Amino acid sequence: MKNNVEIKNIFLNENRDAVVILDQTQLPNRTAYLEINDLKDSYEAILQLKVRGAPAIGIFAAYALAVEARRLAATITDTTLLLSKLQEAAAYLNSARPTAVNLSWALQRMCAYAETLRTQQPLAVADALIAEGEKIQAEDASMCYKIAQYGLSLLRKDSGILTHCNAGPLATSRYGTALGPILLGQEKSYNFHVFADETRPLLQGARLTAYELAQAGVDVTLICDNMASIVMKSGKIQACLVGCDRVSAAGDAANKIGTSGVAILAKYYGIPFYVLGPSSTIDFNCATGDDIKIELRPDSEITSKFYQKPMAPENVRCYNPAFDVTDHSLISAIITERGIVYPPYRENLAKLFSDRQAD
Ligand code: MRU
Repeated sequence: MKNNVEIKNIFLNENRDAVVILDQTQLPNRTAYLEINDLKDSYEAILQLKVRGAPAIGIFAAYALAVEARRLAATITDTTLLLSKLQEAAAYLNSARPTAVNLSWALQRMCAYAETLRTQQPLAVADALIAEGEKIQAEDASMCYKIAQYGLSLLRKDSGILTHCNAGPLATSRYGTALGPILLGQEKSYNFHVFADETRPLLQGARLTAYELAQAGVDVTLICDNMASIVMKSGKIQACLVGCDRVSAAGDAANKIGTSGVAILAKYYGIPFYVLGPSSTIDFNCATGDDIKIELRPDSEITSKFYQKPMAPENVRCYNPAFDVTDHSLISAIITERGIVYPPYRENLAKLFSDRQAD
């Protein structure tokens, strides 16, 4: 059986002048790749969730900016002009989605690196940015592997695990974050039984998590979001694993809408609730979860997107926040590539990331 860990979700084309992505909106029915070399198409790919998951949108945006640098360098001879156009391009890409900090993190890293190349010719700057994008992706793969190892150390063989949304290889590079310990455990015969929340409204759990886990041969059961309580009550769940889009300095974690409800249920049933993410997802500029901007998405995602005809009265008022914030008090541990962080989070995150305080 093909292991999803090996599936390439984001890469450069042969000429290294376009980014190729596995279009996540087509899964699980079609494996379709899109070659993107236009800034607006890159913005749309992020906005429309063709590429999604916090680390993945950071990696993609880094490549998209590098590809834009290459396109501009074909006609621009002045590096100062190139750098200012790249700043504009980065601001545009960054405006596609507000919640996952990895997007702005990756773009800021690319722009800061570009600044150090001011004395070089535009084409050399573009080549160096392509290499930096590859570095970001390689670093993410190695962080995911470490997260998987730390996460697995908290889990017992034969456990039942509940997960929400998709934080697997498609959302990152290789193992994923929340799915990392599960996929690594599968390689080591841990025999996990995973319950995947379908994750309304966009069904990332059904379309992507169930798909990735089934591909890897993991025992996975798909449930609707409102079934998590009965499954937890039945004693079938020993741990909840979720990813994150932005973690505040206090340890409050933004993730896909519905995550905080899972955390509240887990607390009620006495089940450990773990948040897994790379250090690029921790935002020390957000003191608490209240500082995290929650993305609002179109009503049509609730009323009609996955139905053959609308499933709500025409013009009904909808509220479609894409994320919620799980209060740190509900989180048993935050698992990063540097180690496992336990409460009190403000102190322990600051200790583990003493090199990364607020700007
Ligand atoms: O709207 P999405 O599909 O991009 O939301 C993704 C999530 O909420 C993931 O859990 C999160 O980005 C972590 S991915 C490793």
